Amino acid sequence: MAIAVPSSASLGTPASTASRARVAVAGATGYAGQELVRILARHPAVTLTLAMSSAATSTPRPLPALARIWDEPVTPLDLDRIAAESDIVFLALPEAASADVAPVLLERGLRVLDLSGAFRIRNDADRGRWYPATQALPEGTVYGLSERYAEAIRGARLVSCPGCYPTGALLAVAPLAAAKLVQGQVIVDAKSGISGAGKSPTERTHFCENHGSVAAYGIFSHRHNAEIEQELGCSVTFVPHLVPLDRGILETVYVSLVPGTTEAQVAETLRAAYATAPFVRLTGGALPEIKHVAHTNFCDIGWKIDEPSGRAVLVTVLDNLVKGAAGQAVQNLNILLGLDERTGIL
Ligand SMILES: NC(=O)c1ccc[n+]([C@@H]2O[C@H](COP(=O)([O-])OP(=O)(O)OC[C@H]3O[C@@H](n4cnc5c(N)ncnc54)[C@H](OP(=O)(O)O)[C@@H]3O)[C@@H](O)[C@H]2O)c1
Repeated sequence: MAIAVPSSASLGTPASTASRARVAVAGATGYAGQELVRILARHPAVTLTLAMSSAATSTPRPLPALARIWDEPVTPLDLDRIAAESDIVFLALPEAASADVAPVLLERGLRVLDLSGAFRIRNDADRGRWYPATQALPEGTVYGLSERYAEAIRGARLVSCPGCYPTGALLAVAPLAAAKLVQGQVIVDAKSGISGAGKSPTERTHFCENHGSVAAYGIFSHRHNAEIEQELGCSVTFVPHLVPLDRGILETVYVSLVPGTTEAQVAETLRAAYATAPFVRLTGGALPEIKHVAHTNFCDIGWKIDEPSGRAVLVTVLDNLVKGAAGQAVQNLNILLGLDERTGIL
């Protein structure tokens, strides 16, 4: 799981215009898409050529929150323009739209970074259950958990970026599962800010429903459960909650350790896994908080171990719109382009 961090000598140094990759963002009017535009407009090694909304939006318009960062208009989705004016495209679309659009753009020679769930599940039957709009996994699809699959991401045609909840849970538990320190099922108790649900309000995400309240939802029916199980290879009980925050996720993960596992072994396994990972910060017994990672690409992980009973509780936090979406997607772009992973996001 360890990855190499290249020298930071050229971090942030602008590439010449000719050598910059041309990138486009589809879904730029959404929460994740706007975050992508914000990062990519200032990224020193790429040129943001297009930012697009749905085709239903007929008039090109600016993004007021991004004035002086990105002053070009957002235009309706047009696959011909994307193919003509970019080399790499980010899809920050609902998964059914990604399922339609990604194969077309791959066919036209683009490399695709998809933020939706459409291509995350490898098993056909499971994918058919959770993402029925996806016809097939295109050749060259890689699950884009940056810290775990960097080598495969480098050669990917389609990087299927992980979900926000799975990113935090997997970064905490995957090294322990890989080291065979975990037995039985894993329980993930997760709390998310409302932006995780996207910009279109529903009764559940309405201010009056959330303000002053906390609600569980999606028990045994959330698609991220299948994604976490796929990557951990064990049974997972995943219980998400909506909390009255605009952004951020905190997950409390309950794990049974193989008898005899010590606290030092857990700490050493996590430290070895992330020794060179720029965006994973291990906090040990000082448990992390959402405030520490909001608006950043960091995932902070803390833990408490009860050696006599073999119980471990890990607490993991990230910003769902950054490490859980746009930031991790740009981290994957950096890997794909052979750049320092931190370029444009640290
Ligand atoms: N929000 C998160 O924390 C988060 C985290 C990780 C992954 N994701 C995933 O990232 C994707 C985007 O999420 P989001 O929260 O940013 O969603 P969002 O706020 O609802 O934005 C959706 C974007 O897609 C566009 N769009 C909608 N339907 C479309 C269609 N049929 N064809 C083309 N464009 C269409 C919208 O354009 P208009 O403005 O014209 O409607 C908007 O730009 C989703 O698949 C989501 O699951 C989200």
